[in-house]
Amino acid sequence: MIRVTAKAHPNIAFIKYWGKIQNDPSRVNWALNPSLSMTLKNAQTLTSIEASSNEFEFFLNGSKGLEDDSLKVRDHLKKVFMALQSKVPLHNIRVSSQNNFPTSAGIASSASGFCALTLVGIAWALEGQKFAMEWIAQNPRRFSEMCRWGSGSACRSTDGPFMFWENEAATKLNIDFQLFDTIVIFSKESKLTSSRMGHIAANESPLLAQRLKLLPERTKLMKTALQKSQRDPAQFLEFGKLLEEEALEMHQVSRATKVEYWMPATKIFIEALQQRDARNFFFTIDAGPNVHLISTKPILLEVSEILNGLNLDYEIWEDQCGEGPQFVIG
Ligand code: PMV
Repeated sequence: MIRVTAKAHPNIAFIKYWGKIQNDPSRVNWALNPSLSMTLKNAQTLTSIEASSNEFEFFLNGSKGLEDDSLKVRDHLKKVFMALQSKVPLHNIRVSSQNNFPTSAGIASSASGFCALTLVGIAWALEGQKFAMEWIAQNPRRFSEMCRWGSGSACRSTDGPFMFWENEAATKLNIDFQLFDTIVIFSKESKLTSSRMGHIAANESPLLAQRLKLLPERTKLMKTALQKSQRDPAQFLEFGKLLEEEALEMHQVSRATKVEYWMPATKIFIEALQQRDARNFFFTIDAGPNVHLISTKPILLEVSEILNGLNLDYEIWEDQCGEGPQFVIG
């Protein structure tokens, strides 16, 4: 093979993965609780592997990647090649990855990044896209598991629109429903506490035990509400209530460990939303200050009006539910 390229999309968690098993090499990035997510459509990472005459190289968004990132990418490919018992060499490979969305905009580039990387890695190891597609069709959970080795949430980007991750891997939920994600970006700066550190802190949170007790019921109710939303709009309101309750709880668990992801603008905006009675869109927030608004219709105008009324500086990324990764010509 000379070159293989794939695209993958980030996902937004409706039920969050927050806290993971520590110090067990056989369960790397293994969440303490099942999670539920929606794969996005417009935001994407495009990743290629090609033969190169140099040593292993990694490029991110057109520039040579940081040493740490390059090591992570190399290490991940090594695991993928070993899992497939492939003898293809790791040197003389160039990996290039490009996001079409602003990095650190509250859109998880590690999820789309590791999903696309795993897919091209499988094709490289098996020496053909066709072989990779056949292998994945036969081993969808193993594919998701391999993505998880790179980044936990990446295991939920392997399909879409809705995914459920439990234990080693994620599987597609049988829900046929169109949802939009309007992302309000208050900051594009890298967060002070990475999600890796956030997970470690969460394990020590005094609020974690209570959260883990409540989650199975919330997860079950949310799945049911999503499944019924298409036929019954009242169920979407029920889904929204659970979505917001879940996001607020994840951030409380985090706050109790002195890890704060919100900015003042996040708080002002969320409080303004909470004061509006009739809303047809609902918020969720990952490990950062930016807010995802989930709706059944595009809501750009309505949201811009609220934000302008609050005098906040923001940018908006409009997205919607999408599918799993694909090979592309590139
Ligand atoms: O996959 P990680 O390590 O980037 O963790 C993701 C954590 C959250 O985005 C906050 C929640 C989630 O389930 O995606």
